[in-house]
Amino acid sequence: MSNKTKYDTVNYTDKLIRLAQNENPYGASPKAATAILENINLISIYPDIKQLKLRQLLADKANVNIDNIVVGAGSVSIIETMIKTFVSKDEHIVIPKISFTAYKVLAEIYGVHFRIAEMNNYRTDLSIISKLCDEKTKLVFLANPNNPTGTIFHHDELKQFIEKINPNTIVVIDEAYVEYISDSSFPNSIALLNKYPNLIVLRSFSKIYGLAGLRIGYGIAHQTIINKIENQRTPFTINVLATVAAIASLNDNDFITYSIKNNKKQRDYLYAGLKNLGFNVLPSQSNFLYLYFYTKLERDVIYDQLIDAGLQTRKMEPFGDEKALRISIGDENANQKIITCLSH
Ligand SMILES: Cc1ncc(COP(=O)(O)O)c(C=O)c1O
Repeated sequence: MSNKTKYDTVNYTDKLIRLAQNENPYGASPKAATAILENINLISIYPDIKQLKLRQLLADKANVNIDNIVVGAGSVSIIETMIKTFVSKDEHIVIPKISFTAYKVLAEIYGVHFRIAEMNNYRTDLSIISKLCDEKTKLVFLANPNNPTGTIFHHDELKQFIEKINPNTIVVIDEAYVEYISDSSFPNSIALLNKYPNLIVLRSFSKIYGLAGLRIGYGIAHQTIINKIENQRTPFTINVLATVAAIASLNDNDFITYSIKNNKKQRDYLYAGLKNLGFNVLPSQSNFLYLYFYTKLERDVIYDQLIDAGLQTRKMEPFGDEKALRISIGDENANQKIITCLSH
């Protein structure tokens, strides 16, 4: 057995196939690289503190006003700003038990209390979340689709939830993987923004746009929320080349369509292949699959088998489940390797 198993995240010095961080296996839009090279002389100047050009393009795309958009150095930096500024010592946030690690990690860093909502058959159940919320709940974090389970909640569920919640509680809908959705009952969260000023939708350039290394993401919300975040975020953290690449990629429909199409094809292939081999795998609306096991040991055996074949996947302890594995959907070659490896 190789000694690589001690690494839970990608080891950059190894020639492992990266299936641990839900990156785009097809890279980034070629337009991003061209724009970076064409604008390389900008590196000696400070970025636009207001991000006016990118915010206007994002506003046009979402059919909202520029004042409804905030840009951050990755959507995780917007999450950080919200946690550190919106929640005081006697208040708390609510998060689903198996979800994106940053919510809990950042709450711990800033000494913010959190309540954990149990999952319902690996799904985020908004009625369970509702029961945990009271007048001291300042933020609720809901990844949709959920990372790592790939499950979604539907438009009507979200509408009912937000109608009932205290208007002083901000509901954060984290849609980092929204482009990969194929279920038509997925919420049109932006349409709900007009009616619910306590809602914010987060999006990322790290996933389908393939710009994870540049760190850029954004939020869409009522101006009151946006202004509060803008006033509290560290200035100049979004670097000039990240902005240039985001602008160049935003409307590269060829690259986005290619990525969606191939992800769906590969997701179907890998899901069916794993099911055929007898694995417990959740249907996914995203660019990763969630495998759950009866024991941690059983999970570890599969993880080791994959890593010995050069396939880096992710153990789910940090996400709240020690008996599960998440596999990012790679390209055809990677997925065939997974099936071949696990067929022995
Ligand atoms: C649900 C979710 N939100 C946000 C992020 C982070 O996005 P960014 O790279 O824009 O900070 C991730 C990354 O894995 C994620 O899974």
